[in-house]
Amino acid sequence: MPPNLGAGVRHFLIMVRSSAAPADTTTVLSVLSLKGGVGKTSIVLGLAGAAEERGIPTLVVDLDPQANATSALDPVAAPYSVSDVLHDARAGVAAEAVVNSCWGPSVQLIPSERALEHRAAETAPGSERRLRTSMLGVASGYRLVLIDCPPNLGELTRNALYASDAALVVTEPSFFAVQSAAQAVDAIEVARASGHESLRLLGIVATRIRPRFAEHRYRLAELREAFGDAVLEPIPDRTAIQQAQGACMPVQRWRSASAKAAAASFDQLLDAALTSSEPTRK
Ligand SMILES: Nc1ncnc2c1ncn2[C@@H]1O[C@H](COP(=O)(O)OP(=O)(O)OP(=O)(O)O)[C@@H](O)[C@H]1O
Ligand SMILES: [Mg+2]
Repeated sequence: MPPNLGAGVRHFLIMVRSSAAPADTTTVLSVLSLKGGVGKTSIVLGLAGAAEERGIPTLVVDLDPQANATSALDPVAAPYSVSDVLHDARAGVAAEAVVNSCWGPSVQLIPSERALEHRAAETAPGSERRLRTSMLGVASGYRLVLIDCPPNLGELTRNALYASDAALVVTEPSFFAVQSAAQAVDAIEVARASGHESLRLLGIVATRIRPRFAEHRYRLAELREAFGDAVLEPIPDRTAIQQAQGACMPVQRWRSASAKAAAASFDQLLDAALTSSEPTRK
């Protein structure tokens, strides 16, 4: 039996899925989860790789002190990090931290560093809006901005949500999946209720799914029972994702059947992210 969701979460799911998306052409998407190691960074990298293949101007904001997305995108030089950006927090200052990735001309990066941990501890009234302010006028230069969150729902993830148009909740197919996803959805609802009403839930995505495992199928069914059509097509477990990350290259350029299948999954997710900001979608 899936745990009961609070009435607030159920109402929120109905509300965000049915509200019309704004007519802008930039999607700022936070990728978040309550737990660590569930596949957030892999999804950000998979989407960035898919966007690079299509020539879609994309900015990755690495908001995790572990700096995994930064390592994978391997910028030649990074004079400023997102930690400097949040410390300064002047309107538009994030532009000064943007660097080219080694993946190609379409994917740029605001890198992270370990010192970002200090920013997570610096809370004050309004401090959750530092990233939003610093990104003013920056996001609009891209079709897609992907924010890779740390593995918690604290200050940095709150900053990500306030800077975003949409949020993607990532979960693993475990006993805790529904509970973890519900807490992440709650964090989105809190941001909406605290003045960021336009924030949308893109959906909930389960990763590292092995369809042959009955346990994974069961946990996926539980998620669907709890969250309905907010649950997106899952990302299967593909060794090519790890191989490509080890080689600092997009999985889209890795040559194997597993890589091709992974690329197809990320292409489908990219379509969902991009169409979520088209004005015709209901
Ligand atoms: N679909 C997948 N198939 C195979 N391996 C995967 C998949 N998704 C993620 N992984 C692997 O699982 C590990 C954790 O993934 P990832 O770093 O993306 O998680 P995360 O949620 O960003 O972690 P953290 O919370 O620590 O930032 C990595 O080794 C990654 O290569
Ligand atoms: Mg990560």
